[in-house]
Amino acid sequence: MFATAPGVARHIDAQALALSTPRHADLTVMRIDHPSHLAGDVQEELLDSLMPVAASAFHQAPNRDFRRDVKDHIFKPRGLLIVYDGQGNPVAFRMWDFITLKFLLGEDILYLAGMCVRKDYQGQGIGEALLRVVLNEDIRRSLPDAHAFVPLPLAPYVALRTQNPVMKFCFDRATGVESYPRIGEATVPSDVQEVGAKVAGHANDHAFDPATMISRGFYGHSLYGTPPVSPNPGYAELFGQLSPADGDSMICVWRRQAAH
Ligand SMILES: CC(C)(COP(=O)(O)OP(=O)(O)OC[C@H]1O[C@@H](n2cnc3c(N)ncnc32)[C@H](O)[C@@H]1OP(=O)(O)O)[C@@H](O)C(=O)NCCC(=O)NCCS
Repeated sequence: MFATAPGVARHIDAQALALSTPRHADLTVMRIDHPSHLAGDVQEELLDSLMPVAASAFHQAPNRDFRRDVKDHIFKPRGLLIVYDGQGNPVAFRMWDFITLKFLLGEDILYLAGMCVRKDYQGQGIGEALLRVVLNEDIRRSLPDAHAFVPLPLAPYVALRTQNPVMKFCFDRATGVESYPRIGEATVPSDVQEVGAKVAGHANDHAFDPATMISRGFYGHSLYGTPPVSPNPGYAELFGQLSPADGDSMICVWRRQAAH
């Protein structure tokens, strides 16, 4: 295990994750709030330990560009969850953040700012279990630096950006309700479009089309050494609208409750 500043990291919900993935009862989850606050050498040490997971998940060589990209993804968001195996080796990680939807109304969008599972652990329920941890763990209430005495509700919207149909599939399985854009539905509700536009704006993404929830060329290139495919025909068709090589991505949004 790596060293962290006191109070920055704590183990959470290891049992919940173990329960969801009976094949891996020895997994534990480490949560780090504000990873950007870690000392520079601790960040590098942590990055060293996570690079093999990212390289394996994205089929990428761990060269300098990829390392910089992974570093940005890991340390810019508000929080980080890392799954360790019984020997203390990281096998998966997920970042999360909050985005304000309406000025003064609070941070209403929980942004799932990236996730990866080491190749040899994929398809075994870890991604879905990790999503459930983020969705169910009252991350906002337990933030150490804010709202300590105010019981905040869970964020009403949860969003992510991806090139990977399996990611949306996994997200939809974790929530139990299909996120937008939906397979076979031509229109996206206006509040969801607004959330998509906020998420895009947060990343200075000017190529986002709220009607389709697609951003053309956002990444500038494919994130994957080998483009991801889904065995599910509906998801494959939806993501067939993207050209991953051109850096296209989709913003997927799940609404916790139906609009009134
Ligand atoms: C997307 C990802 C995080 C999902 O994590 P995971 O632990 O593999 O997902 P789960 O095992 O919880 O999978 C949920 C469902 O997706 C399926 N699935 C997972 N990986 C798959 C793959 N490569 N191909 C086809 N189906 C896959 C699982 O089989 C499962 O469905 P099932 O229970 O009906 O079999 C992981 O595959 C990954 O790291 N991919 C590469 C990196 C990436 O794309 N990250 C997302 C960037 S936004």
